Amino acid sequence: MSDKKVILSGIQPSGALTLGSYLGAIKNWVKLSDEYDCYYMIVDMHAITSRQEASVLRKTPFEQLAQYIACGLDPEKNTLFIQSHVPAHAQLAWVLNCYTMFGELSRMTQFKDKSGKNVNNINAGLFTYPALQAADILLYQADLVPVGADQKQHIELTRDIAVRFNGIYGDVFKLPEPYIPTVGARIMDLQAPTNKMSKSEINDGGCILMMDKPEDIKRLFKRAVTDSETCVRYDVDNKPGISNLMQIYSVCTGKGFEEIEKEFDGKGYGDFKLRVGEAVVELLQPIREEATKLLADKAYLENIFKNGAEKASYVANKTLRKVYKKVGFIEKT
Ligand code: TYM
Repeated sequence: MSDKKVILSGIQPSGALTLGSYLGAIKNWVKLSDEYDCYYMIVDMHAITSRQEASVLRKTPFEQLAQYIACGLDPEKNTLFIQSHVPAHAQLAWVLNCYTMFGELSRMTQFKDKSGKNVNNINAGLFTYPALQAADILLYQADLVPVGADQKQHIELTRDIAVRFNGIYGDVFKLPEPYIPTVGARIMDLQAPTNKMSKSEINDGGCILMMDKPEDIKRLFKRAVTDSETCVRYDVDNKPGISNLMQIYSVCTGKGFEEIEKEFDGKGYGDFKLRVGEAVVELLQPIREEATKLLADKAYLENIFKNGAEKASYVANKTLRKVYKKVGFIEKT
C-alpha cells in the first residue's frame, strides 16, 4: 500500500466525454495523478439511472478509457476501472442507503434537474444515486475528489453520511474534500450559456465533444452565442457567452482574464471566437489522435479494466468488511 493520499473520481459513460468533463474534472485528475494514489472510474451503474442503449453502453467505456489514457492518465500509475466490476460499490451503497435520509436526497439539485427533464423515468435509482456516489468515494477512504462545480452538493452529502456513520460506529470512513477548479468548474453550453454544457442535453451545437473533429470544433465556436456589445470582458451576469468563452480560453492557454481582455482589446468577437476554437483544437487534437490509436487495441484496454478492478476490489473490500462488521452482519465463513 502506498502512503500517498487517495483520490477517487468518476464519469458516467452515458454519452461521449465533453469539453466540460475534461476542463472541469479530467484535466485536474491528470495534474494530481503523480502526487496521489488515484482511482478513476467509469460509473456505468450510475449511468443506468437514465435509460441507456445496451449496445452503446457496451462500447462507451472502452472509448472513455482510451480517452482517459490519451489525456495523460498512465494505467500503470493510476487505477482505472469500471464501477460494475467491483461489486463492493453496490454492496456499500445498500448499507449507506439506510443511513441517508429521504429529505437529504430530496434536496439534491441533480435529482430535481434530472427528474424534471425526464418525467417518464423518475426511478428509485435516480433518487438514491448520491448514496451510491458516497459508497464510491468512501470505499477508497478518499482524501480528495476532483470534480466540476455541479458535484459539490453530492460530496457534501457524502461527508454528512460519513459523519453520521462514524458518529454511530467510530472512525470507519475518512471525510473527503472536493477539489473544484477556480476556472473551468462550470463550462456552459455554447448556444445557451446560462446552461451547463452537458452530454445528455439534446442541443443544437452547444456541446463540444472530446473526439469532435477540428473543423467541427472551430465551426461550433464560430457560432457560439455572445452579446450585443463588442468588448471581450469578463462579466458572468451580463455577458455569460463571452465569459464562458473566456473561461475556456483561460484554461486552455493558462492566461488570466485581464491578460485575455488586453489581448483582444479593440478586436471583434469574430477574432476572439476563432482564437478560442483554435486553442481548444490545439488541446484536444493530440488527445483525439492518441485515443483513436488506443481504441484499436481492445485487448490492451480489457486488460487495464481487469487489473484495475482487481486493485480496486482489494481496497474496496477492506472497507466493506469493516462496515459489515460494524453494523452487525455475521462474517461469512
Ligand atoms: P458526470 O458524468 O456528469 O460528469 C463527470 C465530471 O465532469 C464534470 N463536468 C463538468 N465540469 C465543468 N463544466 C461542465 N460543463 C461539466 N460537465 C461535467 C462533473 O462535475 C464531473 O466531475 N455523479 C458524477 C459521477 C460520479 C462521481 C462519483 C464523481 C459517480 N461517482 C464519485 C466523483 C466521485 C456525475 O454524474 O458526473
